[in-house]
Amino acid sequence: MKSVLFATKSLEQLSQEASSESSGLKRVLGPWHLIFLGVGAIVGAGIFVITGHAAAQYAGPAVTLSFVLAGLTCAFAGLCYAEFASLIPIAGSAYTYAYSTLGELFAWIIGWDLILEYSLGATTVAIGWSGYVVSFLKGIGVDFPAALAEAPFSFNPQTGAWTKTGALVNLPAALVIALITYILVRGIRESATVNSIIVVLKIGIILVFIGAGLFFIKPALWKPFIPPNQGQFGFFGLSGILRGAGVMFFAYLGFDAVSTAAQEAKNPKRDMPIGILGSLFACTAIYIAFSLVLTGVVSYTELNVPAPVAVAIDAMRLFWLSPLVKIAAIVGLMSVMMVQLMGQPRIFFTMAKDGLLPPAAARVHPKHGTPHVTTIATGILVGIASSLLPIGIVGELVSIGTLFAFVIVCGGVLVLRYTRPDIPRPFKTPLVPFVPVMGILSCLYLMSGLPKDTWIRLMAWMAIGLVIYFTYGIRKSKLRRRP
Ligand code: ALA
Repeated sequence: MKSVLFATKSLEQLSQEASSESSGLKRVLGPWHLIFLGVGAIVGAGIFVITGHAAAQYAGPAVTLSFVLAGLTCAFAGLCYAEFASLIPIAGSAYTYAYSTLGELFAWIIGWDLILEYSLGATTVAIGWSGYVVSFLKGIGVDFPAALAEAPFSFNPQTGAWTKTGALVNLPAALVIALITYILVRGIRESATVNSIIVVLKIGIILVFIGAGLFFIKPALWKPFIPPNQGQFGFFGLSGILRGAGVMFFAYLGFDAVSTAAQEAKNPKRDMPIGILGSLFACTAIYIAFSLVLTGVVSYTELNVPAPVAVAIDAMRLFWLSPLVKIAAIVGLMSVMMVQLMGQPRIFFTMAKDGLLPPAAARVHPKHGTPHVTTIATGILVGIASSLLPIGIVGELVSIGTLFAFVIVCGGVLVLRYTRPDIPRPFKTPLVPFVPVMGILSCLYLMSGLPKDTWIRLMAWMAIGLVIYFTYGIRKSKLRRRP
């Protein structure tokens, strides 16, 4: 039994798979391309929506400090991610890395866990998208029926109570997922040029918001900057900053998109850290300035709404800016969902090829050449989830799940340094073991701040995954059957 659970794929086998998958990829990306790629995948619902929730519920204006904490954690994890990505640059990312270092059981755990990052990540962004679409329509005089624009239940983290919202379903969220799924099945990829235009649009508008907001800041709204704790861990005070960091970690997700482009980087050794750290640094700077302005122009207590930026703009009475921000959010969030909904089916696809999921999931569309079965399955699941669930719940689950995956990735880098010191690494994580150890500790630290309910949901999710592995994957694994 032990030998099966911890059997690893050989690196030679992986690089063979990588070269067959990567055929046709050219080394064309320079450092700026990589930074743009990162920023395009990172800036989304985190900043446009969840900042408001985290400030209102957990950290107050000190959500700014939560961003610093979360950004640092990502920097450690990102440097570890990059070493793996340059070593084994194929679809499946962290799942594949774990397979080669820690064995099949860990690989399954991480693959299962990545469903939280990718599918629930897309769910979260879709819910955020819906909030901005409804707000935009309202701005042009179209009232979208409230009963079709929200999940049927909302959750109060402080009391742990679920309450009926009176709505039936979040229709725009489900529709945008259906649209993107269709685009992905057809194999239409967002080109680097389109990505650059979207990045310029969303960053440009955020900078305009920050610049304009500077004239409307009322410093009294920042006092106290760290609102006193309300008696329970995680609700304001220092523990609120920590919880806010765990929640806002979501806003940084997507930087792993940079690491998976390692194969296409002209000079991965130099450019991967520039791409990863550069996009993280750019986002951290933007997030800090943005959250300061947001909590400086409107009281944080008013930000627990679907489109918090719109509330801030209304407070500034800059009505011309409002539709522009909403359009930037609507377009910008779609590019984030594209990345997530493209990643998820490819992870399922790789897992199915390894025999851990049913073979149907490894089918490729005869005409479009896309993994259509997994793309459609993902679209259906994410569509249902985004039409029924509240954003806070899913966002926190994405954060905890991804933090957990990063703990394993950082551990994997360490393990591989000792078990296979000899293999050539196009990009090496600097300062090993310091960086991976700090990566593990900081991810665990952020996880420790997340609510108990979120932990319970993570455990339940992982328990379901283990049952599936021990009843299906372990018997069907191709690695096990290989002579
Ligand atoms: N970082 C991405 C976002 O905030 C997932 O939408």
